[in-house]
Amino acid sequence: MKKIVLLYWPKGGNTENAAEKIAKAFDNIDVFDIKSFNAEDIKNYDLIITGASTVGAENWEDASDDNEWSRLDLEMRKQDLTNKYVAFFGLGDQVLYPDHFVDVLGLFEEEYQNMNAKIIGRWPTDGYRFTDSDGAKDGMFYGLAIDEDNEDELTEERAKKWAAQLLKEMGE
Ligand SMILES: Cc1cc2nc3c(=O)[nH]c(=O)nc-3n(C[C@H](O)[C@H](O)[C@H](O)COP(=O)(O)O)c2cc1C
Repeated sequence: MKKIVLLYWPKGGNTENAAEKIAKAFDNIDVFDIKSFNAEDIKNYDLIITGASTVGAENWEDASDDNEWSRLDLEMRKQDLTNKYVAFFGLGDQVLYPDHFVDVLGLFEEEYQNMNAKIIGRWPTDGYRFTDSDGAKDGMFYGLAIDEDNEDELTEERAKKWAAQLLKEMGE
C-alpha cells in the first residue's frame, strides 16, 4: 500500500479544515502542518499532498525565515523525489477573488514541475464560477480547488472523489 502524507499551511483556518476533510477521505494517511514536519521524512512516503490558501503571492515568494513554504521547498529540493507522486489542493474564494481564484495551485505547479516527482490530481474547473486563475489551464486546475467561504458543503464530496482519483492515478 502506498504511504501518503498531507502537508498544509496555514494552521487554524480553512486550510486546516480542508486538510481534515481530505484526510478523512483516506484510510491511511499522515497529516502535518508544515512547521511540524521534518522534510527528510519525505523519503518515507510515496505520495506527498500539499495544501495552502491563496492569500497573495508576496506570502509565497518572500523567502524570509518565517515563510514556512519557502523553507519546505528548499528542503524538498534536497530530497530525491524520483518515483514520488505529488498532488496539491488550494483554498480560495471565487466570489471575492474571481480573477485570482486559487492562484496558489499555480504556485505549487511552478515549484514542483522542475522536481522529479510525478504530479497527479488534476481537477476539472466545471462547476466553479470564476473568471481567471493562475491555478488552472485548459479547463483543469493543477490540483483540487476548495472554496470553504462559499461552498464548504461541497468540500467533503470533492475530497472523497479526489482521494479516489489519486489512488487510481497511483495504480492502487
Ligand atoms: C489577504 C487575503 C487575500 C486573498 N487572496 C485571494 C486570492 O487572490 N484568490 C483567492 O481565490 N482567494 C483569496 N483569498 C481567500 C482565501 O484564500 C480563502 O478565504 C481561504 O479559505 C483562507 O484559508 P485560510 O483560513 O487557511 O487562510 C484571500 C484572503 C485573504 C485574507
